[in-house]
Amino acid sequence: MVPSSITVRAPAKVNLQLSVGPARADGFHELATVFQAVNLCDEIVARENPGGGIRLTMSGEGAESLPTGEDNLAYRAALLLAESLEVPPDVDLHIHKAIPIAGGMAGGSADAAGTLLACDALWRGGSTREELTDLAAALGSDVPFGLHGGNAIGTGRGERLTPILSRGHFSWVFALADDGLSTPAVYSECDRLREGRSVADPYVSDMLMQALAAGDAELLGRALHNDLQLAAVSLRPPLAQLLEAGEDYGALGGLVSGSGPTCAFLARDEDHALDLAVALSGTGLCRSVRRAHGPVPGARITG
Ligand code: C5P
Repeated sequence: MVPSSITVRAPAKVNLQLSVGPARADGFHELATVFQAVNLCDEIVARENPGGGIRLTMSGEGAESLPTGEDNLAYRAALLLAESLEVPPDVDLHIHKAIPIAGGMAGGSADAAGTLLACDALWRGGSTREELTDLAAALGSDVPFGLHGGNAIGTGRGERLTPILSRGHFSWVFALADDGLSTPAVYSECDRLREGRSVADPYVSDMLMQALAAGDAELLGRALHNDLQLAAVSLRPPLAQLLEAGEDYGALGGLVSGSGPTCAFLARDEDHALDLAVALSGTGLCRSVRRAHGPVPGARITG
């Protein structure tokens, strides 16, 4: 028997590398990126709502600023799945946010991935992983990774995934900002900063792959790289001081996460992450800090 409510947890991501190629004719940029899922998770609860359509409510940090209609990616995920399954789009969705909003950690994408999984179970859709991944890719570039989790290389606009195995786990400190940054604005700024220069094809760094295979945090710290970082710092100059502070306090590496403004700092281990988190929160350069570790699995049913 299928229960009348399904709970899913869906993780945030950090891009260990984000190599951004030229803008394509469709406006997206060709990417080579390495994703890692980390244990900052949103919780999505889907309940039966016979004849009531899609009702979405949100709670948690910053939730009051998020749309709850078709502007919300999770709402669109439920609608798209209902269309594809040819079932009435009736569900009462509640999302509890722990992933920073508009922070470059794919919180909206995680919610969409979790909603696909939760509604498919609630509506007895029986979709395969592949079918859900295709719907995820139609919703947004980062949504397939929200389903996949772990570590993966993303190509195309980030939606084509190749899993990567890694050893051990990595300890992170995330420094959160007061206000989000718009992803399209950061990509546009990246284009503006590169104007008149030829842009190389995106690539995945060998050093980074070696670091993951060996579980070598020192090496991973040196291999972290984000082509969007200059653009994010150009739009939000104080991020430069935050990144510098992380380095001064002994992070193995630090970078802007995705399109920012959240900054991710790699620590040697959990103890080091605690020290780093305390030091960074004392700088006054960020709103708050979160510790997390990765890799962790993608969206999964927990109840
Ligand atoms: O796919 P998603 O909806 O997450 O993308 C949001 C925006 O980020 C796009 O509209 C585009 O401006 C930018 N983007 C891009 N190239 C990518 C991914 C996203 O230019 N590979």
